[in-house]
Amino acid sequence: PRIEVVGNAAAVAERAAALVIARLHDRRPVTLGLATGATMAPLYARLVAATRTGVISFRTVSSFNLDEYVGVAPQSPGSFHAYMQQHLFGHVDMEAGRAEIPDGTADDVAAEAARYEEQIAAAGGIDLLLLGIGANGHIGFNEPDSDFASRTREVRLDEATRIANAINFPDPASVPERAITMGIATILEARSILLIARGSEKAAAVAAAIEGPITAACPASALRLHGNVDILCDEPAAAALA
Ligand code: F6R
Repeated sequence: PRIEVVGNAAAVAERAAALVIARLHDRRPVTLGLATGATMAPLYARLVAATRTGVISFRTVSSFNLDEYVGVAPQSPGSFHAYMQQHLFGHVDMEAGRAEIPDGTADDVAAEAARYEEQIAAAGGIDLLLLGIGANGHIGFNEPDSDFASRTREVRLDEATRIANAINFPDPASVPERAITMGIATILEARSILLIARGSEKAAAVAAAIEGPITAACPASALRLHGNVDILCDEPAAAALA
């Protein structure tokens, strides 16, 4: 991967926004893969601002989100549907029906996962996939020991992930135990990947991903099997790199 270290979290968001804006600038059709979470919010704020000022447009953008909780309705505040509406889709000129997120309320989650894979394939694959990283090295909701050959499927969330994601729920115990996520193989099929990390709580995971063994114990280490990955960190997140 290409590694870039910038000073602080705001600089990560600024630099990541510049990379995405460069990709959208020519207004050609593009399919993005999108993540949720605290790291992404200031990036999306910058993309919203760039759309408002006419620097970019989402009219030629299609997107596939990485993941969604199982059993959480789209309109529920803890859902990733709600997050995306709040941080991006509610503020940009994307065409209706072009933003896909797994349906966590599907009766048959396995069928929904298969349908999602088919939709990604039918769209011609993902051009640019945005990723965060979990403190345990997860990408999407592929927790440690996820198979590198995994595809979109239902997974059980680690306890630490549920605690880290409790912000939009009344308490950690209310965070769903299961999610539907793109698999590691799904992620690695994206033509380009931009992973962003900020904060000291990500330092060990970033170092393991970049300098440790390529192993299912650190799902983000799979990114080293891909030829077109940018990893952008702030100094605290890069602090454990050699
Ligand atoms: C979110 C996702 C997760 C997050 C990761 C980091 O859609 O797939 O992998 O990117 O948990 O989350 P934050 O940015 O909240 O630390």
